[in-house]
Amino acid sequence: MIICSCNVITDTAIRDVVTSADMTFGSPAQIYDCLGCSVQCGLCSRSVKRILEERQGETAAAAIWPVQAEPAPCALMSVA
Ligand code: FES
Repeated sequence: MIICSCNVITDTAIRDVVTSADMTFGSPAQIYDCLGCSVQCGLCSRSVKRILEERQGETAAAAIWPVQAEPAPCALMSVA
């Protein structure tokens, strides 16, 4: 879905940059810089910021609750 009609940027492109870039984004303007464009009318800023916050929330949640490939064995089940 196109998020920024001025620069024709999709939500996928924004998520790709936020996910793959080797940096932490503090503002939507930094994302625009990475995509080689700049804010024109600003109508998309809220959507870009929401995507950025979603990604930051996912990263924070992963740090708090790391996903394990397999559940850890239950200590109660090993008592036999
Ligand atoms: S819609 Fe993104 S700058 Fe205008």
